[in-house]
Amino acid sequence: MTRYLVTGGCGFIGKRLIANLIARPDTAFVRVVDDLSFGSREALAAIAPFEESTGQVPGLPQARLQLVIGAICDAELALAACRDIDIVVHLAANTGVGPSIADPRYDCSTNVIGTFNYLEAARLAGVARFVFASSGAVTGEVEPPIHERVPTRPLSPYGASKLAGEAYCCAYANSFGLQTVALRFSNVYGQGSGHKQSVVAKFIRQALDGEPLVIYGDGGQTRDLIYIDDLVEAVALSALTEGLSGEVFQVATSRETTVQELVTALKHALAAEGAGFPDVVYEPSRPGDMRRNYADTAKAKAMLGWEAKIALPEGLRRTVRWALSQRAGA
Ligand SMILES: NC(=O)c1ccc[n+]([C@@H]2O[C@H](COP(=O)([O-])OP(=O)(O)OC[C@H]3O[C@@H](n4cnc5c(N)ncnc54)[C@H](O)[C@@H]3O)[C@@H](O)[C@H]2O)c1
Repeated sequence: MTRYLVTGGCGFIGKRLIANLIARPDTAFVRVVDDLSFGSREALAAIAPFEESTGQVPGLPQARLQLVIGAICDAELALAACRDIDIVVHLAANTGVGPSIADPRYDCSTNVIGTFNYLEAARLAGVARFVFASSGAVTGEVEPPIHERVPTRPLSPYGASKLAGEAYCCAYANSFGLQTVALRFSNVYGQGSGHKQSVVAKFIRQALDGEPLVIYGDGGQTRDLIYIDDLVEAVALSALTEGLSGEVFQVATSRETTVQELVTALKHALAAEGAGFPDVVYEPSRPGDMRRNYADTAKAKAMLGWEAKIALPEGLRRTVRWALSQRAGA
């Protein structure tokens, strides 16, 4: 029976991952550490009933889901939270390029020191596997398809802090035998993303609010858009596949979608779910925006037996349906 710790478990990816892990009969429990800066108790409760640990040292949970409220920069809490854990999935972070440019010091302390805290705590607690949420942002502007061996030259503090996390994962695998797996997520969309600033989440919010969709530049820039359930499956396989250590994987669809194509696909998805489509306006491209971005996922296919299955039209329909149901329930 496997005992998991998921940092950032109340967030977009964390909630869906927890639903996946809790559904597995060989899961003993999932402990979550989250400071609730974006996530919430209500969001977690919608996944499964949970017990909230009070005090600095979480005890062994009675329920299959336990919430510990705290920040990942708290090294003492990290030590306590990693006790009795087999697998750590480290998701909590200062997410996104914009916030890292607005406050690079906070980004560094959260993403570099926070990740270090959980690697060190995992080592001291005898955790077997550490799965780290990295990002496509570590590579910077390179000729796609992006793969695990391209040079890493981040454009943003966020990319740099994720790259530092990958470097520490590699070092902990080599120096201490901790089985680490760093996953470079591409652009994730899907249910539970209502608070996100990524392109799909923003377009759906704008469309349902009847506001114009804003395209920066000519709309020819490309992204690799992965549906949340595909991504979560890759995370679960990275946690459970035997014999992985010190690995890095691109987790993406291997498909290149222009923003213009996304807008067209979203128009169809909105129409199929009975929702209207707003105007589209064009604004100058933003500095630092990558022109082309998609990843080669052959390594994940070979070593994890994983590839993304959900095509964009289906993923968008599911996401629009979820967003409409949220509004109907509000
Ligand atoms: N969503 C994407 O498209 C995407 C792409 C690439 C990488 N990632 C990475 O995946 C991970 C999860 O992303 P997400 O989209 O679920 O983000 P999210 O913002 O929805 O969730 C992050 C969770 O972490 C918590 N958190 C934030 N700072 C914390 C701190 N200092 N201490 C404890 N908890 C904290 C938040 O309350 C939230 O519940 C992040 O590491 C992110 O960088 C996400």
